[in-house]
Amino acid sequence: MANRAQFSSRIGFILAAAGSAVGLGNIWGFPTQAASNGGAVFLMVYLLMVFALAYPLLVAELTIGRYGSADPITSLRKVWPRQKALMGLVGLAGMIAVSLILSFYAIVAGWLLGYLLAPICEAVGLVSLAHWLEAFGSGRNLILMLVFMWLTVMVVRNGVADGIEKWSTRLMPVLLLLFVVMVVYILTQDGAWNGLKLYLIPDFSHLSPKLIVSAMGQAFFSLSLGVCTMMVYGSYLSKSANLPKTAAQVALLDTAVAFIAGLLILPAMFVAQHNGVVIYDESGALLASDTLVFSVLPTMFDTMGPVGMIVGILFFVLMIIAALTSSISMLEVPVSCAIEELNQRRSTAVWWIGGLICVISAIIVFNFDALFGRVVTTTTAYAQPIIGMIFALLVGWIWHRNKVLQEIRKGYPAVASSLFWRIWPWYVRIVCPVLMLLVFFLQ
Ligand code: PFF
Repeated sequence: MANRAQFSSRIGFILAAAGSAVGLGNIWGFPTQAASNGGAVFLMVYLLMVFALAYPLLVAELTIGRYGSADPITSLRKVWPRQKALMGLVGLAGMIAVSLILSFYAIVAGWLLGYLLAPICEAVGLVSLAHWLEAFGSGRNLILMLVFMWLTVMVVRNGVADGIEKWSTRLMPVLLLLFVVMVVYILTQDGAWNGLKLYLIPDFSHLSPKLIVSAMGQAFFSLSLGVCTMMVYGSYLSKSANLPKTAAQVALLDTAVAFIAGLLILPAMFVAQHNGVVIYDESGALLASDTLVFSVLPTMFDTMGPVGMIVGILFFVLMIIAALTSSISMLEVPVSCAIEELNQRRSTAVWWIGGLICVISAIIVFNFDALFGRVVTTTTAYAQPIIGMIFALLVGWIWHRNKVLQEIRKGYPAVASSLFWRIWPWYVRIVCPVLMLLVFFLQ
């Protein structure tokens, strides 16, 4: 396709892909998992999972996308032209999985909007609205989810360079800056060091198969793998970009943000405890992660007086920015398919697909107890690793090794002849699937 959209610069791509990767998974998921899984032990296993498993698969997904330079269904078909129907199904599976992820992600992001707006409403005297925004209820969940989905649709409607790239390059630096300011602030508060100790001193008694499985799931979710997101972003990447290096920068940025989020959230929990907020339940276990972020932290901000209000607003702005740069990457998957497979206009595709995802999300909102946890587990613990493994098998077994290397070599010929890139196709072919099977066995 001659005039297909592309990211306009390499840094634009890196920030957009890192924007997809950095999200609630880093700021909410990673720190709370680390907190309840032995702190530094979880961090160590997580790093291993990111670099031994997720990074090679990130390269695989980006490579398929850039090779295909098309929507995921067509890209996958180019990898295995003789199995068009099967490849169509794999692409469809990724598209359904990512739409389901977006439908629960938008609910959680909606809560964040509520926590952002509540103190502002309270400050201007709209007290009952403030309470409504913070209290769990189907009406609130629905309306806030719709607002968040509307934001997502507005960005994706403007396309790749003017929508996704422009907003990611604006929002990501703001996010990093806000983050650093908050970490510095939190670390100067009483109680913060206890959180740091929990985070950085390993407690090996937590090392267990469950921890390894959780770390793998977290790595897949965090790098947005297995649901065609990175494939679509790879398809907008210029042929001259150095793919392995770019992927490494994305993985490093994502991991750095998760690490810094740990430096923020764990100390913040103990600052909250110092201020009288309960963070452990009766059995001595840390409160569930949603309770932590959605009730412990706001309570902590409340106890901090006027400064707390500003810190709280900053914190939720940060979370919403991170969630938005992720949700736009999710919506882009089905939208790119509708544009290229069904020849639709972008402005049409975003609305009906966004609308459909809102309907799924609304069904979850009104059947929250029965559906929310199930959708999260099915998509993140099963769909992402399984579809990710299918991509690895495709690259490793179906695609001719020379073709893979040819694709990687574009942009940076010397890299492909290095030892690492001679090994990589074999690594994706054998080591990745075996590692993943092992982890599944542990489960
Ligand atoms: N990586 C995002 C996060 O850590 O919050 C979540 C995500 C984005 C998952 C995009 C899947 C996806 F396709």
